[in-house]
Amino acid sequence: MKMILKKGVLIVIEGIDGAGKSTQAEILLDRLKAKGYEVAYFQEPSESKWGREIKKRALFPDSLSPDEELDLFLKDRRENVERNLKPALKEGKIVILDRYYYSTIAYQGAKGIDKEMIRKANEEFVVKPDLVFVLDIDAKRGLERIQDRKNKDKLFEREDYLVKVRKIFRNFKGENIVHIDALKPRDEISEEIEESILKYLHTFETNGVRLS
Ligand code: TMP
Repeated sequence: MKMILKKGVLIVIEGIDGAGKSTQAEILLDRLKAKGYEVAYFQEPSESKWGREIKKRALFPDSLSPDEELDLFLKDRRENVERNLKPALKEGKIVILDRYYYSTIAYQGAKGIDKEMIRKANEEFVVKPDLVFVLDIDAKRGLERIQDRKNKDKLFEREDYLVKVRKIFRNFKGENIVHIDALKPRDEISEEIEESILKYLHTFETNGVRLS
């Protein structure tokens, strides 16, 4: 059975490096597809020229000042919102997004930029997410999990820094924010995420959005 939503749903997965975001996004995509939902998957930094620039620069330590980082992430996000997110949501898809502006508040905030200013600069143009899952892991274990990756980024993957980033992630509050202990077994986490989404879609449905 195909499930067609009248309005798209934006689901964001957040957390420090090594929290397991991409793994969970992959499982979630498969599960929702199997249930008949139309889904799309995007990541930030994205594939835009700004996103590619960030990934290139991130291989070298101190290649960007915090303000330059913020500027590049904002440019990349504007493009991702217009080119990818809005069209997919307009088609009624469930959009799974691996990192969003919560990452900017946490990562660039941890480099000393005012967190409220970052939030405001983003909220001027972003699509507000329906649900945000924050996968929580301590910096040491997060880094251990990704130690075999080939392209190590030198701008962000440092323990002392990720300790601060994690702290900011843990402080996000709001009715659309769900904190999850990323040390729990992978399948338990994916079930928890799926359950929250299905519950959310159900209220959505009873609020007059037809599923056919
Ligand atoms: P990735 O490892 O998830 O591809 O992300 C690349 C790095 O970019 C990661 O260490 C987190 C960082 N980042 C920020 O510092 N600010 C942001 O707004 C985003 C989206 C990512």
